[in-house]
This record gives sequence, C-alpha cells and structure tokens, in this order.
Amino acid sequence: MIVTIDGPAGVGKSTVAKLLAKALGLMYLDTGATYRTLAYAALRQRINPITDVKRLAELARRLPLELRPTPAGGLVVLLNDRDVTKAIRTEEVSEAAAQVSQHPAIRAAMVQLQRELANRHGVVAEGRDTGSVVFPQAPIKFFLDADTRVRAKRRQIELAELYGTRPPIVQVQEQLHFRDGLDRHRRVGPLMKPTGATVIDTSRFTAQQVVRAMLHHIQQRFRHRSGFATHARPYRRTRPRIASRSSSSG
Ligand code: DC
Repeated sequence: MIVTIDGPAGVGKSTVAKLLAKALGLMYLDTGATYRTLAYAALRQRINPITDVKRLAELARRLPLELRPTPAGGLVVLLNDRDVTKAIRTEEVSEAAAQVSQHPAIRAAMVQLQRELANRHGVVAEGRDTGSVVFPQAPIKFFLDADTRVRAKRRQIELAELYGTRPPIVQVQEQLHFRDGLDRHRRVGPLMKPTGATVIDTSRFTAQQVVRAMLHHIQQRFRHRSGFATHARPYRRTRPRIASRSSSSG
C-alpha cells in the first residue's frame, strides 16, 4: 500500500503525512529529508550545491542515510549514524536542498534511494514528485495546496520553533517564493499535481481535519474491497471539501 502526498512548502504535508501514516499503520516517508540530508552532507564537505554536480552525484549514490520511525509517528534522520533530524531544517540547508534537487543526476539517485526505503514497507510518501515520478502506480494520491500567506505563516512558526525567534513574514514569503520557483520550474520532477491526485486546499483546516478527509476518501475508494480498514472517525461536517480530482486515472 502506497499513499503519496505532494505539494509546495508550508501546506502541512509533513504533519498530515505523519498522522495519516499512523492511522493507516504505514511507514511515513519524508522524501524532502533525503534531499535535505544530501544538501547538509554537501555543505559540510564544502561541495558546491549548484556547480559541483559530479561530487554531489557521488555523494548521493553512497549517502549513508537512515530514516528511523519513532513511536510518535515521526522520523529520526541519521547520517552516518549521527542524528541530523534538526540540523537539516535550517534555512541554509533548505536553500541548498532546493539547489541540489535541480540536478537530474541527483534526482535519479534520490528516487532510487526513496524506492529502496519504501521497498519493505507500505508507506505514506510525502514530497514534490512522489505521485508523479517516485510512485506513479500508487493507488491513492493527494495534492495539498494553501494560500501563500497561510503557508508563510506556518513556515514562520516552524522557524520560530527551530531558532527561538520569529523572522519577519516578508522575509519568509520571499524565501517561499524563491523555493516555489525552483520546485515548479525544474526540468526533471517539477512540483505538479500528479495524474489522478485528489486536491485538498488546507488553508482553513487543521491537520486533523485534513487527515479525516483523506481517511474518508480512502474508505470510499476501498469500500468494496475486503481486508482493508482505516481507523477513520465518522464523517464530520468540518471535513474540508475535496477541491477537484483529475479525471484521467484513479
Ligand atoms: O519538503 P521539504 O521542504 O523538506 O523539501 C526540501 C527540498 O527538497 C525542497 O526544496 C524541494 C526538494 N524536494 C524535491 O525536489 N522532491 C521531493 N520529492 C521532495 C523534496
């Protein structure tokens, strides 16, 4: 069982993916963490994330990365057995991750790594291209979106938790805008709504409400199949409306 959740930064993908994975008894796969860990390792080894593609690709192919699930449903990210869970969340690493993810050779290595990580488990995979490139055959795909101001606000709160101070909203918006541009316009694996994905606008909903909507959707999809059960709570009126659905597959 593979569920994919894609969308731009700040739509709440990670929170929602963790909760959904827990509810479905699947592993949570944070594909962004693979790019971030590579970027972090590159910065430490003074490899230029924009120009030094050859050394980056070598590093990507032998990246000693482990994603270890926590009892709370999160992930501990280990690089060479060292816990880098927090270190890969800084703005410096965010920017470098956006840069390393532009290179087709790097994306190929990361996609292979992500498939290997998912190989032995059912996963809820979260990222930019999980439904379009990494797991195009996934039976359930979601695409999350949200208002730019809401996304910036969420990222601002995340940064305040990380650094203890709140950066100005204008600065956060600029950084989001920069990363959105790189994500949407790269040649390989750009951020896009995958074919067959269900779109949810998370602007006005809590993570719990979004997860409830997803579980409801999954139950509807699988209601005729035996042996698949979700722990979904009953339908509530606060459930976000599912905005649209591509008609070409699913
Ligand atoms: O989701 P995130 O912010 O942790 O992702 C970090 C960077 O990695 C982001 O700039 C885009 C890139 N990324 C990607 O290119 N493809 C993915 N599937 C996931 C993340």
